Amino acid sequence: MKRVLSGIQPSGQLTLGNYIGALQNFVKLQDDHECFFMVVDLHAITVPQDPAALREQIESVAALFIASGINPDKSALFLQSHVTAHAELGWLMTTLAYMGELERMTQFKEKSAGKESIGAGLFVYPALMAADILVYNADLVPVGDDQKQHLEITRDLAQRFNQRYGDLFTLPEPYIPKVGARIMSLDDASKKMSKSNPNPGSFIAMLDEPDVIRKKLSRAVTDSGREVKYDPQSKPEVSNLMSIYTYCSGLSIGEIEAKYEGQGYGAFKKDLAEHVVATLEPIQKRYKEIRESGELASFLRKGAERANAAAEPLLREVKRRMGFVLPE
Ligand code: TYM
Repeated sequence: MKRVLSGIQPSGQLTLGNYIGALQNFVKLQDDHECFFMVVDLHAITVPQDPAALREQIESVAALFIASGINPDKSALFLQSHVTAHAELGWLMTTLAYMGELERMTQFKEKSAGKESIGAGLFVYPALMAADILVYNADLVPVGDDQKQHLEITRDLAQRFNQRYGDLFTLPEPYIPKVGARIMSLDDASKKMSKSNPNPGSFIAMLDEPDVIRKKLSRAVTDSGREVKYDPQSKPEVSNLMSIYTYCSGLSIGEIEAKYEGQGYGAFKKDLAEHVVATLEPIQKRYKEIRESGELASFLRKGAERANAAAEPLLREVKRRMGFVLPE
């Protein structure tokens, strides 16, 4: 059975982009793969976080995994910081990485642009992410389009290790959805929808109330035309809304175009909002139940036990090959 690993940062409210690009695919994979899913809390602190807000976000993201359909009996669901092998292998991978390849990472360039002081954690982030994946020898990593470059450097580091110390790591493949791999911002279709965007009108949060979702979508930027037509080059805003529509309704792009022919954007946006609300409402209901049940801690404990059991032997072998003296 193939191994799957993925993670989401608890650095803000999860968005519809996180759901369509990543979470919903996690759920699909868990039936016929051995899955490890985590809240990557160690990654979140590469930018400053308020401790109380971080704690809440970590629990919220973990509960959203379950609310979205991750079954903690099937998949190992855990917090990255509960499995110390991540941080440890992260350091070992950092020593294999080159400054030049880390400097080329788009996410680093974006997050550090215009900043006077840039945290070193942000720079070495890809080495920790590589460790996250390699410590389980994962075959598949379900992610959105923006994580492709991180997967490439993970493969490069794995290959470098394998060449120096003998074949050990599996080279992981990204697993990217056909529709919705890159959901764009509602106020600017040249940027991806992001939980760290300071304008809440730019994203749909998975926990937004139905009326908030309706308002945000009615205000979503569109071009001045009125044709509901999929054309990412000349109509990026409408095309982005159509990707969301396709995912949330199950209708194909062609069916959506036919449905709104000659009707303008108003009716399309109104129906889109109802499809998004219908997609998120059951998740929000389960989310409340999980938060109120107090069961989260025991799910996470069980998940960390499984993750630790899988990660520890591999970390030990990495250290042995690199020349460390292992404790008896
Ligand atoms: P993060 O927390 O930014 O995003 C989590 C997942 O959501 C996807 N995603 C999107 N997909 C489509 N459209 C969007 N607008 C959108 N925004 C986010 C991301 O591609 C991602 O799959 N570096 C990772 C976290 C990480 C990780 C890992 C992932 C750390 N270690 C190991 C996989 C394996 C990140 O920042 O994701």
